[in-house]
Amino acid sequence: MKKRVAIFASGEGSNFEKIADNKDLKDKIKIEILVCDNKDAPVIQKAEIRNIPTYVFSSKDFDSKEDYEREILKKVHNLDYIFLAGYMRIISPYFLENYKNTIINIHPSLLPKYKGKNAIEKAYNANEKEIGVSIHYVNEEVDGGDIIAQKSIEVSQSDTLEYVTEKIHKIEHELYPYVILKLIKEEL
Ligand code: GRF
Repeated sequence: MKKRVAIFASGEGSNFEKIADNKDLKDKIKIEILVCDNKDAPVIQKAEIRNIPTYVFSSKDFDSKEDYEREILKKVHNLDYIFLAGYMRIISPYFLENYKNTIINIHPSLLPKYKGKNAIEKAYNANEKEIGVSIHYVNEEVDGGDIIAQKSIEVSQSDTLEYVTEKIHKIEHELYPYVILKLIKEEL
């Protein structure tokens, strides 16, 4: 039986794409829905061309986070996993209660270092010699849940921020589908 999953994203959707197109995952997961909080996000089209249903909302149309999260919960049912891939909103304890230990996020730093936005830039500007990517469970703390997997690269003096950023994204694109597969096979 395929695992029923949702992907939450707000932007480009390059990680979404890698998960959706991964050959090993094809017969293991069904992406039931893409949830997106930004109507201009390129990820929406990436879902549409793959015939993946979308729920696109604007937080401005709701009085509170709980209100829009309640709507999301109406759209998704009995999911095995929710994968956050560049989703720029904090998941509330109310939502977490409904999906305990099944929400997973990818973050472009070696957590617990550089939580939050612009993590690659922060690590680069701090002259870190080793930077990387983390995949972790989502809890109430931003980028704070238990770490599932990490991968790092070395940064040399001559590397530009652009080059490092590109390398980090490449790692993300390999690591996320790999970790999802491992989780589903219960090997992690
Ligand atoms: C990635 O760097 C991810 O780690 C971070 O947001 C970015 C999303 O990129 N959380 P994309 O939308 O998947 O291209």
